[in-house]
Amino acid sequence: MAGLTMRRIAKEVRADVAAARDRDPAARSVSTFAILSSWGGVQALLAHRIAHAMHLNGSKVVPRIIVYATRALTGIEIHPGARIGAEFFIDHGSGVVIGETAEIGDRVTVYQGVTLGGTGFQRGKRHPTIQDNVTIGSGAKLLGPVTIGHGAKIGANTVVVTDVPEQATVVGNPGHIVRVEGRRPEGPDTDWIHLPDPIADAIKNLSDRLAEIERRLATLDGGDAEAEVRELRPKQGPTTAGG
Ligand SMILES: CC(C)(COP(=O)(O)OP(=O)(O)OC[C@H]1O[C@@H](n2cnc3c(N)ncnc32)[C@H](O)[C@@H]1OP(=O)(O)O)[C@@H](O)C(=O)NCCC(=O)NCCS
Repeated sequence: MAGLTMRRIAKEVRADVAAARDRDPAARSVSTFAILSSWGGVQALLAHRIAHAMHLNGSKVVPRIIVYATRALTGIEIHPGARIGAEFFIDHGSGVVIGETAEIGDRVTVYQGVTLGGTGFQRGKRHPTIQDNVTIGSGAKLLGPVTIGHGAKIGANTVVVTDVPEQATVVGNPGHIVRVEGRRPEGPDTDWIHLPDPIADAIKNLSDRLAEIERRLATLDGGDAEAEVRELRPKQGPTTAGG
């Protein structure tokens, strides 16, 4: 039984090392030993394969110690209960958190700072399900029992709280679809950039009326109509952020 489990883990780890070579250009001409000894994402996954097998066999404390030690070493925290498919690759790794009921399919790639987390204190299935061939960019947060469809791409720093269809590219906070199978989505409700903003419209109306009142008052006083109310800054245009 233990022999079978070890053989399965060894097979999974071989596939994980091959995935690192395939998806990280820096790992192409590097030996298996070098990848196992210095790729944090691969080490975290190796530790998880062992912790998960023990977790399935009913062991409680040792898997937690493995998680603790792995986090200290790599900055990656994967709950022993998380189910991870073949050829998973965590690039760079630090800051990745994968929750207990997360399910990850085959050939999934995750960059540093990704969270597959819950949204509250509920029990049961509360973490994302990631289907095959998904890429999740650095810093993305996927929260709750959402499903990310086959081949989807999640942009860096995206926050996903709803399901993502297959082959979609999602960016932003809240995450919204910008491509489906590489093409811009068309039709009504697809322009997420120029959404109506009723509060800004109301403030602009008030600002216009105040300017008009000040102009009339100035005329009554016999002075110049120099209203101090400035126009609202346009929603788009040069950014004020420094480089
Ligand atoms: C989301 C991502 C996968 C998109 O790749 P893609 O399929 O080639 O799509 P595009 O580059 O054509 O981008 C599609 C649109 O989303 C925008 N976009 C892309 N990534 C974005 C992001 N992370 N946040 C906000 N908008 C983003 C693009 O500007 C483009 O906008 P447009 O429709 O106005 O032209 C990619 O940009 C990304 O974020 N990858 C993660 C990479 C990463 O984490 N690297 C870490 C290395 S250490």
